[in-house]
Amino acid sequence: MDSIIIEGGIPLEGKINISGAKNSCLALMTCAILTNSPLKLTNVPNLSDITTMSLLLKSLGLEVAHGEGDRKVTLRAKIITNSKADYNIVRKMRASFLVLGPLLAREGFAQVSLPGGCAIGARAVDLHLKALQKLGANLDLEKGYVIASAPTGLVGAEINFPIKSVGATENTIMAATLAKGKTTIRNAAREPEIEDLIECLNKMGAKITGQGTSILEIEGQQSLNGTCHEVISDRIEFGTYLLAGVITKGKIILVGVNDIHSKEFLDKVKEMGVNYTYTPEGLKVDCSDSQLKPISIITEPFPGFPTDLQAQMMATMSLVNGTSEIDERIFENRFMHVPELNRMGANIKLEGTRATINGVDKLIGAPVMATDLRASVALIIAGLAAQGKSVINRVYHLDRGYEEIENKLAKCGARIKRVVS
Ligand code: UD1
Repeated sequence: MDSIIIEGGIPLEGKINISGAKNSCLALMTCAILTNSPLKLTNVPNLSDITTMSLLLKSLGLEVAHGEGDRKVTLRAKIITNSKADYNIVRKMRASFLVLGPLLAREGFAQVSLPGGCAIGARAVDLHLKALQKLGANLDLEKGYVIASAPTGLVGAEINFPIKSVGATENTIMAATLAKGKTTIRNAAREPEIEDLIECLNKMGAKITGQGTSILEIEGQQSLNGTCHEVISDRIEFGTYLLAGVITKGKIILVGVNDIHSKEFLDKVKEMGVNYTYTPEGLKVDCSDSQLKPISIITEPFPGFPTDLQAQMMATMSLVNGTSEIDERIFENRFMHVPELNRMGANIKLEGTRATINGVDKLIGAPVMATDLRASVALIIAGLAAQGKSVINRVYHLDRGYEEIENKLAKCGARIKRVVS
């Protein structure tokens, strides 16, 4: 298994291009199931999760053509040859469950493996299933698979989500685009990736209103057409590199950012004492002589502080003088990076969903183990600031969500290399 070796202590300096959003792209790819015409996506990030989704869609009969080096993918579902999403693919990536809604809407039948738990929590799919049942699907659970059928098609309905779920909102929207009549979704998640999905679906001929709000109305259509769509930029990758600049006291310019998607994050970063400015090239962060202050954050659904930036923020807080606090309200077990950061000299205490981070003067490089995607990158940014050598093991998690991370960081002066084994 590959590992990443970092000799820390170098302030980052330079430009970093932000790639297309992984989470947006994964949902957009599944839209191709809804039409027999081609769906062309641009600004597609080169990530292993995207490859996994391509494999899954190919297994269902889609043609998937990745343009070489041009960040484009064309998907076409002329016919669906197989309505079964196999455990061996779904277990690798929870977003695979997003094929359920579109498959059911197009074929009236789908068999999708349950994704199971993951390192950051139990992550149920009950909300996805209840919403599809409301749209008229018959559901059975058999040998770890959801068997869903709607032989005469799905029918529009009123759906009230008890809590906000990104995936359940996406699955329901896609299913409802081909249902008979009108669907109203209340307490829908409002993440930018959902807005991106709605924009693409409307270009495909869907009739969805309420984009960007928590009440969505969908007028089901008989069929959808293909389209071309550019994936939005990755707000989590942006936040991660911004914090890498902060923790190393660097000067970086982040290119290709959509700051509207990161307002709460940027407000918190400003409260911490980070100076950033907008330049024609991109968002410039200069932390070379910032005096950072401790802050408190609560992770919440959008527009709140994103749980996907919690681990990276915690690594950064560990070097901020004073006591910072994090309350993780989305995933019950998303603190696996804490013991690893403490092994590097951080002083973080956990109590239930709360972490108290007492700033230390320095982190010391150490061998550490990555446990999930965002925990892995938090260890990378801690390693960039730490004195001496850090070895981050099990980095395959990183390749799921960070395109060319070593190259992007090395171009800004980081002493970082991958050891392939
Ligand atoms: C998506 C993102 C992930 C991000 C998360 C929260 C993708 C591919 N992944 O994951 O990076 O961390 O949003 O912003 O877009 N829940 C239920 N029942 C359900 C569904 C969810 O109880 O049926 C719970 C989850 O356990 C969690 C909360 O709802 O506690 C939010 O999860 P959800 O928004 O669904 O996350 P994902 O869509 O899986």
